[in-house]
Amino acid sequence: MSLLYTGTMLLKRVDRLTPGISRYHHLKLSAMTPEDAKKRIDELTEQIEQHNYNYYVLSSPTISDYEFDMLLEELIGLENKYPSLADPNSPTQRVGGTITKEFPTVVHKYPMLSLANTYSEGEIEDFVKRIKKVIHEDLEYVCELKYDGVAIGLTYSHGILKQAVTRGDGVQGDDVTANVKTIRSIPLRLKGDFPEEFEIRGEIYLPHEQFKKINKERIESGEVPFANPRNAASGSLKMQSSSEVAKRELDCTLYNLLGDDLPNNHHYQNLLEARKWGFKTSNNIKLCTNINDIFDFLKYWDEARQDLPFDIDGIVIKVNSFQQREMLGFTAKSPRWAIAYKYKAEEAVTKLISVDFQVGRTGTVTPVANLEPVVLSGTKVKRASLHNADIIAKLDLHLGDHVLVEKGGEIIPKITGVDKSLRISEASPVTFPKKCPVCGTPLVREEGEAAYACPNSKSCPPQIKGKLEHFISRKAMDIQSLGEGKIEMLYENGLVKDPSDLYKLTYSDLIGLEKEIKTEGSKTKKISFREKTTKNILKGIADSKEKAFEKVLFALGIRHIGETAAKTIARHFQSMDRIVSAEYDELIEIDEVGDKMANSLITFFNDPDNIQLIKSLKNSGVRMEGSYETSEKEAKLDEKSFVISGVFNDYSREELMKMVENNGGKIVSSVSSNTSYVLAGDKMGPAKLKKAKEHGIPIIDLTEFLDMIQ
Ligand code: IVH
Repeated sequence: MSLLYTGTMLLKRVDRLTPGISRYHHLKLSAMTPEDAKKRIDELTEQIEQHNYNYYVLSSPTISDYEFDMLLEELIGLENKYPSLADPNSPTQRVGGTITKEFPTVVHKYPMLSLANTYSEGEIEDFVKRIKKVIHEDLEYVCELKYDGVAIGLTYSHGILKQAVTRGDGVQGDDVTANVKTIRSIPLRLKGDFPEEFEIRGEIYLPHEQFKKINKERIESGEVPFANPRNAASGSLKMQSSSEVAKRELDCTLYNLLGDDLPNNHHYQNLLEARKWGFKTSNNIKLCTNINDIFDFLKYWDEARQDLPFDIDGIVIKVNSFQQREMLGFTAKSPRWAIAYKYKAEEAVTKLISVDFQVGRTGTVTPVANLEPVVLSGTKVKRASLHNADIIAKLDLHLGDHVLVEKGGEIIPKITGVDKSLRISEASPVTFPKKCPVCGTPLVREEGEAAYACPNSKSCPPQIKGKLEHFISRKAMDIQSLGEGKIEMLYENGLVKDPSDLYKLTYSDLIGLEKEIKTEGSKTKKISFREKTTKNILKGIADSKEKAFEKVLFALGIRHIGETAAKTIARHFQSMDRIVSAEYDELIEIDEVGDKMANSLITFFNDPDNIQLIKSLKNSGVRMEGSYETSEKEAKLDEKSFVISGVFNDYSREELMKMVENNGGKIVSSVSSNTSYVLAGDKMGPAKLKKAKEHGIPIIDLTEFLDMIQ
């Protein structure tokens, strides 16, 4: 049976990674020569990796937490004392520390294909029949769980994790290596007899325990919870700070080995080998020789999946032999040698109590059903999404109806049907309101839009709050010290109505503000602005004045102007004044700007209130022009890769890494012919020095580096 660890075990191990050097280790360190230190670092690295493997992959630790901590502390101590000996793939790096501004796009060596899907056993029979038409010899099938997460391709060279790339569009994906290194079940270096170069693919996912914990924290801090573990996993992988990713406690199971030099010509046997090198492959995998074996596996997991500590959305069936796979080939989209059997979404019947109509940032009104609680896929469901007026009409929904709710991977399930035979005659139909449920303004429906919207964008409270929330959001002005909950407090206390009010806030406005918020169950929690929170908020707001002009344009929340469009428009016009005075024809000339966007920009800037908002933001010091200095500076290190080696007196290694990355450069771990520069401090590692000289890589000192980014 499955060898999966529990959330509690994971938590414990993360807590241990708090760096700290005990006095005992200091004493030992002082007596060491660098050669001794190197030897000890290697020993410790190997031991710690083995213990990580025992714990995270095998779930059978052989030492106590305390003993593990001692080993790790000793390694941290040695790496602090001899920074040049610290390896970027050291187990101490699992806590993260890298900031990634943008994830570079990488073309997959082998395209990342998807699988044909089916929901019926009949289609599995057809799949097997099709295969048998081509293959006239014995066949083996491998049945595996279909993990519901984010696909990842990991490239290893000489046993070292080099790159981790997301699926993207299948041809190219994003390089998320720094973030992936924080996942403890992914080995940073391998053991045993592995091929020199290969790729291994699998799924990164968030186990239920971690998902619940993250959402609880998000709700408490007034943030929107993730809809499901898959969204949470993919959101986590794209976070800029790898230390934050480390806290998410993602997991990864690998299911596909690719390369020219694999140990075996069979998939199943390769996975067994990969496990020996340190990878977490699934234990819930079965070699089948006939269709009945396959059906048994499907049936078993249809029930047993409820007890898994993570989500699966089906089963994958693959032909085992590579030779047979080659004979079967591919269709345009997917291999003929594999198929995904998806479990039908779970359904339950319950009663509709009422319908809420929620108003969003742009005024769109979304209906949400309140239900009599019912258990669906092991969780209690109280609310269901109804999407729009057409769906309500199509369902012919009445209050008190017995409704069919379905959960298809989303946290909020949907209503898919009504049992009209159980409806009482006096039941009143659910009607979409004609007026905004919050401000009372008559709703409008734009041509071609399914949704009704409240046009009162200026004074409808949820729209005002939504716009403020958008302004401070990560992709916009990124004022992390403020969240939805705090924005609501500021709004309710009459302190902010539009984004420009944020820049007028003072210490005395904020200090002492208090609010009770509802947490899970019927508990409440008090948020209060004490000194630290207040200072943090004011600092976050002040820092946002440094945000690039394109972020400011996006933050204004102009309809149809998303992040990418804002970037293109900002770079094209280079100043707000020029955008404001741009005519339709000028706007439409830009490649990415179509009729809808151009009209939306013109409408926005024709509104005197918006012009006033821009003026006020400008007066507060928010950027209204493209900062060419910044973009040039950012571009300065573009495409350049840096290896940092040695000790620097004025900057920590982490600060230097951030400086490289903030200026558009990349940090790489080891020197190769592709390295652009080696940034060398005192006592640079001799191996790196030798390699840099061999490849003719320029070695620069701190002053030269600072000149480059000035
Ligand atoms: S094999 C040629 N095995 O499902 C395709 N995929 O629709 C090779 N997935 O993108 C994929 N569990 O993200 C494979 N055991 C498993 C899987 C699995 C989940 C995902 C994967 C892939 C998608 C295919």
